[in-house]
Amino acid sequence: QYIRSLSSSAALQAIKHVTVIGGGLMGAGIAQVAASTGHSVVLVDTSEDILKKSAKGIEASLKRVAKKKFAEKPEDGEAFVQKVLKNVSTSSDAASVVQGTDLVVEAIVENLKVKQDLFGALDKVAPEHTIFASNTSSLQIADIASSTARLDRFGGLHFFNPVPMMKLVEVIKAPATSQQTFDALLEFSKALGKHPVSCKDTPGFIVNRLLVPYMMEAVRLHERGHGSKEDIDVAMRLGAGYPMGPFELLDYVGLDTSKFIIDGWHAMDPDNPLFGTSPLLNKLVSEGKLGKKTGEGFYKYK
Ligand code: NAI
Repeated sequence: QYIRSLSSSAALQAIKHVTVIGGGLMGAGIAQVAASTGHSVVLVDTSEDILKKSAKGIEASLKRVAKKKFAEKPEDGEAFVQKVLKNVSTSSDAASVVQGTDLVVEAIVENLKVKQDLFGALDKVAPEHTIFASNTSSLQIADIASSTARLDRFGGLHFFNPVPMMKLVEVIKAPATSQQTFDALLEFSKALGKHPVSCKDTPGFIVNRLLVPYMMEAVRLHERGHGSKEDIDVAMRLGAGYPMGPFELLDYVGLDTSKFIIDGWHAMDPDNPLFGTSPLLNKLVSEGKLGKKTGEGFYKYK
């Protein structure tokens, strides 16, 4: 037990410098939370323009947090925002910044080849001890890691949107992930103030593996004519106590993202009825109705 706690605290100390790759919705949130908890963070994206937008987004989000947290003392809130912002820098050159990093968290586009190329290149320049982690929602960690020679120092850190609000992190142990790496990722998640759960490297891990087939079955139930969208949503909110019904949730997640996930799983395991696709979902996506973000999905938004 003593040795175990010693090694965990060593691992906790080890992850101080974090490189977050991808400054979009998830990456900016991960960078914000890591910086807020005292880590030094470099946020990487493909262009300075995107990075400027990400940095602005982080500052605005921190100000919202500070306004709530320091409602009585706004000057302490401003000091908090400035302190956290000092912990974050940005770069469009991943290879040059990974030199000094303990952990790389990748949150770029959900495309296996692009992720493999990124990690393959970083593997050649990152220090020996650096741990690599992907925030992928639907790809296998082992497939992404296969482009590197550090399979033992590669795992999954799956955050939830919006990252500053959502407490859960799924920590994924692929078959080749070492126990030490896995423990370091658990400790890092706790250091972020999150609640980690352990997952195997299986499609959708825990949350999406249950949530995506549930949402797809809601669409099929509607397609069979067994319930209106509105009634299904009300039923699940009031009957199951869910904060959103399945159609509201699909619109929030994005219909393109949901289609991408289910299509990938269907291709991998076509006979699994849980991974069945839906003509209605496909139609909406082909019409560009992708949910809240485009103003229309299953519902219309102002
Ligand atoms: P996003 O589209 O908002 O952001 C992706 C960012 O990565 C963009 O700013 C893009 O310019 C950048 N990027 C693309 N290729 C790059 C490269 N080679 N090097 C550096 N930057 C690059 O996407 P989002 O939603 O933040 O998703 C990112 C990852 O997180 C995906 O793997 C997704 O599956 C996963 N994820 C998404 C969740 C969500 O609710 N959106 C939830 C949990 C995980």
